[in-house]
Amino acid sequence: MDLYEHQARELFAEHGIVVPRAEVTSSSKEARAIARGLGGRAVVKAQVKTGGRGKAGGVKLAADPAAAELTARQILGMDIKGHTVRKVMLAQPVDIESEFYVSYVLDRATGTFLAIASAEGGMDIEEVAATRPEAVARIPVDPAEGVTTAAAARIAHAAGLPPQAVDVLVRLWGVLTREDALLVEVNPLVRTAQGDILALDGKVTLDDNARFRQQRWGAQEIAHDDPLEARAAAKGLNYVKLDGEVGVIGNGAGLVMSTLDVVAGCGARPANFLDIGGGASAQVMADGLGVILDDPAVRSVLVNVFGGITACDAVADGIVRALESVRLTKPLVVRLDGNNAARGRAILDDRAHPLVRQATTMDGAARQAADLARDPACLNPA
Ligand SMILES: Nc1ncnc2c1ncn2[C@@H]1O[C@H](COP(=O)(O)OP(=O)(O)O)[C@@H](O)[C@H]1O
Ligand SMILES: [Mg+2]
Repeated sequence: MDLYEHQARELFAEHGIVVPRAEVTSSSKEARAIARGLGGRAVVKAQVKTGGRGKAGGVKLAADPAAAELTARQILGMDIKGHTVRKVMLAQPVDIESEFYVSYVLDRATGTFLAIASAEGGMDIEEVAATRPEAVARIPVDPAEGVTTAAAARIAHAAGLPPQAVDVLVRLWGVLTREDALLVEVNPLVRTAQGDILALDGKVTLDDNARFRQQRWGAQEIAHDDPLEARAAAKGLNYVKLDGEVGVIGNGAGLVMSTLDVVAGCGARPANFLDIGGGASAQVMADGLGVILDDPAVRSVLVNVFGGITACDAVADGIVRALESVRLTKPLVVRLDGNNAARGRAILDDRAHPLVRQATTMDGAARQAADLARDPACLNPA
């Protein structure tokens, strides 16, 4: 689960990282009062779980309380990369001398944590990382040793951060470990003209597997922002909304992940991740199809099942029964392989739904689904 900036900011403060004074509201009237409380001027910041808010016009300096109200009114309701702004945070403006970037992330490729830091933080960090990778230090952190003062000093030195950043690096490691986060990022960490070091923006991704011991995050905080994800979660589906147009259903996380790759390899973009798991019932198939078909971005659906414990005929039965309760409005490409594949294919052949096609290989199925997403007319045989 990703946290909002204001939630990340609270965690930082609890761990002794200095943050500007700030308050959150969903009302522009209240924004005026908050700005007054902050001394008049305020930075009005959209609270959405996506980066690049500044470039999207979601972070603006207001010179006085009246301007803060006006700015809050402009930003509330704004759409930033598909996220609607429902709350703004008003933060005390800080007199920035330099902006740095610091983060810790679980790096699955190397199987350890990575400290990533740069003396050239701020809104252009992606560009810096892409064009001058040498300006961004990437240093593995031994999870058993953690970030000691000595380790933090090495990170700060490698990235060219000022000595005051060492303390922040140690505390930020404390946030990662004690709050069970997979990612903590501060961009920008700033040095003010007075020489103070403050975290002006924060991103924290918590480890969902550790939620049982992080009781502070109740149902409200973990509420899904995406209505499709919320619906899927309510039905107990393992669903993640993505940006593409090919709906994907598979059994087993690994197979679904590789299906996403194969769809991308065919020049299309997957619309979601959905793992129906082993022993998928007709109900689960119907629930999954229902969620995917209600995604307006979806143009075709790919079902990729490798029968192991789950037999393909049971999956085919599930699809047929799902078709009774869900009105299929988009082409569906099904690839069944493994346990009882022939029987499963026969069941779908018998059903002969005009929008359902079968493929025998994963590549072939992904290609068909990608073609259909581009041009649904190619469903009709010439
Ligand atoms: N409290 C603040 N005082 C002064 N400048 C700020 C403040 N908060 C943010 N900024 C400026 O706005 C930029 C963008 O804000 P940030 O919170 O990093 O949003 P995002 O990363 O989503 O664009 C920062 O790089 C910083 O230059
Ligand atoms: Mg930022």
